[in-house]
Amino acid sequence: MNVLLTGGAGYIGSHICNTIVDLGYKVLTIDNLSTGNKNLIPQGVELINSDIADEKAINSILKKNKFDVVMHLAAFTRVGESVREPEKYQLNNFEKAKIFVDTCLKNNLKKFIFSSTGSVYGNLEKNINIKENEPTKPINPYSESKLKFEKYLIKETKKNNASCTILRYFNVAGADLQKRTGLISNPDNLIKAVCEVAVKKREKLIINGNDYKTKDGTPIRDFIHVLDLADIHILVAKSLSKIKENEIYNCGYGVGFSIMDVIKEMNSIIGSEIPIEFGSRRKGDAVYSVADNEKFLQKFNWKPKYNNLKIILESALKWEQSLK
Ligand SMILES: NC(=O)c1ccc[n+]([C@@H]2O[C@H](COP(=O)([O-])OP(=O)(O)OC[C@H]3O[C@@H](n4cnc5c(N)ncnc54)[C@H](O)[C@@H]3O)[C@@H](O)[C@H]2O)c1
Repeated sequence: MNVLLTGGAGYIGSHICNTIVDLGYKVLTIDNLSTGNKNLIPQGVELINSDIADEKAINSILKKNKFDVVMHLAAFTRVGESVREPEKYQLNNFEKAKIFVDTCLKNNLKKFIFSSTGSVYGNLEKNINIKENEPTKPINPYSESKLKFEKYLIKETKKNNASCTILRYFNVAGADLQKRTGLISNPDNLIKAVCEVAVKKREKLIINGNDYKTKDGTPIRDFIHVLDLADIHILVAKSLSKIKENEIYNCGYGVGFSIMDVIKEMNSIIGSEIPIEFGSRRKGDAVYSVADNEKFLQKFNWKPKYNNLKIILESALKWEQSLK
């Protein structure tokens, strides 16, 4: 298998690159290093430092190589920033992604896996695990940009007799167990913040609201280990090489943990209590965001390997400790 992956210098993309290389497949990544770091890309993976919307560069890559599948991860991902600078998200995550996919289709590359997000469902305000057919209701420019591109990709792949699999990730967490890569920075990421407090890079953790209608007042999230997510990409890529489809799958474990559950687990890992402070709610935060993952489990007979909060937190903590 030969994969074209955008965003390979980023958190999730670099893990997928490692998994692909570990399995003996080939991958080339396009990344403009806007939020990524080239040191996260494993040896043996070619990095083309280019924007996904640079048609000339993309055309040249596609003419020189024969890829079986595209994994499109490159995007801006920070919800808070998207509220402050919505145009930036519309441009990068939608307009540029359109140019990229059009260029692939023109070059007869017809199999796409797209990294979308569980946040396209918005805030359901009911504590049920979310199925793929739940109506979408994005509540911030980041999620809007991802949903807009999902729709475009489905329309264009159908029109061009091509295939796409849309993966709606829930909360991606954890790090490579060999500490080859991990999350370097993202101000919106809870587990990153918890780890930074645990290693004393940050004084305390501010919890954005403890008056939600949940067991302990803090919101509930479905954390999926980034290595399981990488395996999901491999399964989908293999399947796309055999069948034609346009499908959407939730990627999560179907199990929710509250913010306080995460803190308690980290306290037990480090053997002391991390300092916390309760702040006010953050606008747009969902109360309960947990995937119903039955569709993916059934279709791929998938068995996650790291669906354990302790493993997720320990791997993220070890990565954090390895960052100087
Ligand atoms: N991290 C999560 O929990 C999460 C959840 C749901 C969905 N996703 C999606 O997963 C994907 C990867 O997220 P991540 O957390 O690894 O983010 P990241 O910021 O670590 O990685 C994104 C990478 O894309 C590159 N990039 C951005 N715009 C580019 C462009 N125009 N041209 C070329 N390269 C570009 C960046 O330099 C970076 O290396 C994104 O599409 C994101 O929307 C992430």
